[in-house]
Amino acid sequence: MGLTMARELTREKERIDLNPREAVGPPRIIPTHREGRVAPPRVLRSLHRRALMFVCAAKGVATHLPPVGAIVQRRSRGSDDARYCYSVWLRHLVVAHRSGFCRKSLPSTIAELGPGDSFGVGLAALLCGAERYHAFDCVASASAERNLAIFDRLVELFEARANIPGPDEFPLIKPLLENYAFPHDLLTPERLAQSLAPARVARLRRALETLDESVFTYCAPWPGGGAASSGLAGAVDMIVSQAVMLYADDLVGLYAEQAAWLKPGGFMSHQLEFTALNFAAEWNGHWTYSDALWRLVTGNRSYVPNRAPHSAHVEAIEAAGLHLVTDWKVMRPSAVKRAHLAPRFSALSRADLTTSATCIQAVKPP
Ligand SMILES: C[S@@+](CC[C@H](N)C(=O)[O-])C[C@H]1O[C@@H](n2cnc3c(N)ncnc32)[C@H](O)[C@@H]1O
Repeated sequence: MGLTMARELTREKERIDLNPREAVGPPRIIPTHREGRVAPPRVLRSLHRRALMFVCAAKGVATHLPPVGAIVQRRSRGSDDARYCYSVWLRHLVVAHRSGFCRKSLPSTIAELGPGDSFGVGLAALLCGAERYHAFDCVASASAERNLAIFDRLVELFEARANIPGPDEFPLIKPLLENYAFPHDLLTPERLAQSLAPARVARLRRALETLDESVFTYCAPWPGGGAASSGLAGAVDMIVSQAVMLYADDLVGLYAEQAAWLKPGGFMSHQLEFTALNFAAEWNGHWTYSDALWRLVTGNRSYVPNRAPHSAHVEAIEAAGLHLVTDWKVMRPSAVKRAHLAPRFSALSRADLTTSATCIQAVKPP
């Protein structure tokens, strides 16, 4: 069984709790098993796991060779596509609205961590009415040309009130929604008439061409902290990230920094995975690797998953003085036995061991 098939199988087993408010409470674990599927014998599973570990380690070692290293560092993928960015932004916005944010007004100053290949998520926010967008990325991979192409396509999507691209088109994007219709109740005709007014769209496009600092700042490569970010203290309405906080080396420091950026009443919205990505056979196989093996399989990459489980994020958010409002978890049956966990992860709670992703939203108390 190849890695792709392994991912398909584990994806089929995940289930999401679609009520963000309820999901703040005790998690609901919904084990699902494919009817009629006979699990392969234990010895075959063990051989398969070891073979994949060997392949992952070989790939990790190969990233130290300059040509391979250059390929794996090349692009993050995802935000190089306008429909992807449109889908990601609208999902964060819809979940925020359901959580009680964005009722009277939409966020005006947005900061994004790890936008990747374009500012697309921030551009979508600007086209919904935001006035300023600040991007921070540890790798500078967004390009001016791509940003402009994505901006033009996003204008078309908003003008058409296109539905939110869903799992058929982007099976891996989370959070999953109950409904992918365009959110007319949130992005009302009046709101969009103002935010998409031709003069405003032309002004934003010019600002993007010149990277006008009154609208855009792009801090990349960003090591965390520094003057650019301290300039944001108390100035941000919403911080957003998609598949980024799982890479933060200093989780406590990065959440504390974001708390400092937010205005009182401002909120953060992060979608993140706790999975092994492509580094192990099982979805949570990364928690079975020793630190040395993890370094070997992840190799020479600009950013590597920090392997922090769900509870570590919640603790860091609360330590930063933020109030958790939404914790929209995806639960999966654990694919590894507790006995196989690396010593560092041997005390993982059952909830952590079975939480594979979350969309987390937290507010800075007024
Ligand atoms: C998997 S990509 C996701 C990119 C984009 N958000 C998307 O959805 O396509 C992770 C991004 O996070 C950035 N990143 C990783 N660690 C970071 C950190 N500590 N601070 C800021 N950006 C970071 C990477 O450079 C990369 O652009």
